[in-house]
Amino acid sequence: MDLVVVGSLSTDFIVQADRMPEKGETLIGHGFSTAFGGKGANQAVAAARLETKTAFIGAVGDDTFGEKLKSNLKYNNIFCDDVETFTGVSSGTAHINIYDNDNSIIVVPGSNGLLTPEVLEKHLRVIEQAEYVLVQNEIPVETIEYVINHCHQKGVKVIYNPAPYIDIDISTLEKCHLVTPNEIECMSLFNLEPSKAVAKYPKKLIVTMGDKGCLYHNGHQEVLVPSFNAEPVDTTGAGDTFNGALAAFLTKGKTLEKAMLNANLAASLSIRKMGAQGGIPTLKECKEAVQNVQGSRIE
Ligand code: RIB
Repeated sequence: MDLVVVGSLSTDFIVQADRMPEKGETLIGHGFSTAFGGKGANQAVAAARLETKTAFIGAVGDDTFGEKLKSNLKYNNIFCDDVETFTGVSSGTAHINIYDNDNSIIVVPGSNGLLTPEVLEKHLRVIEQAEYVLVQNEIPVETIEYVINHCHQKGVKVIYNPAPYIDIDISTLEKCHLVTPNEIECMSLFNLEPSKAVAKYPKKLIVTMGDKGCLYHNGHQEVLVPSFNAEPVDTTGAGDTFNGALAAFLTKGKTLEKAMLNANLAASLSIRKMGAQGGIPTLKECKEAVQNVQGSRIE
């Protein structure tokens, strides 16, 4: 398998409004929808739409949402033999408010919280056969540490997207091939500005900075990899698209800098439609977009 994603699946409940309500205030919104989400699932979909052979390890409940979350992965050509279904448990949900071209999210883990190291043990064989493993923070921290330590022992490259922020031992991060926080997560993890943090972890730390692009250090100097212009409709899942696409382009043998540039393009395309997965581009869409980017260094 090129890529194994260990992570969350959720149903996103999306509300659109002009602003966030104040404490105690009731506000009239102007749109509601449900969509497939969860950082793990979004990242897996991003990689699979770029034609990377992707498997998913995760957990759903036996409610009405669980089966749909799994079917959606299958529909996106993701191998789901390692998705567990827990009886009597709710599947993960995320409650998303969209306003002012941005969002705020409350995640209720449900079954994602039951993906413990004991459960994961049954699926180690899949992990060991992967070229890359991609993991994020919507599953228990013990499981994240277990995955990273196991991959480190077996020589499997882990890309760790520490989102949303949780407290995790820095020594665990050092065992990862790449760590991809955004600016806020970077500050929380290292208590350092992006520029100082990437200098401390050259070729390992990539700090995503939204429409400013992403920052890393190539061992000689700091490099800002630019983003691409897009009219935002919904920015939910742009970071997930970046991470899934980054892994996908690395499995295709791109250099790190090229993979980051391509992943920035995929992320910018993803925000043009509603829903975390709604705008995630296919390989064909990425290639077409490249032709429209004048002077692009993408290939
Ligand atoms: O990163 C976006 C995702 O975060 C959403 O799809 C939602 O499920 C939340 O977990």
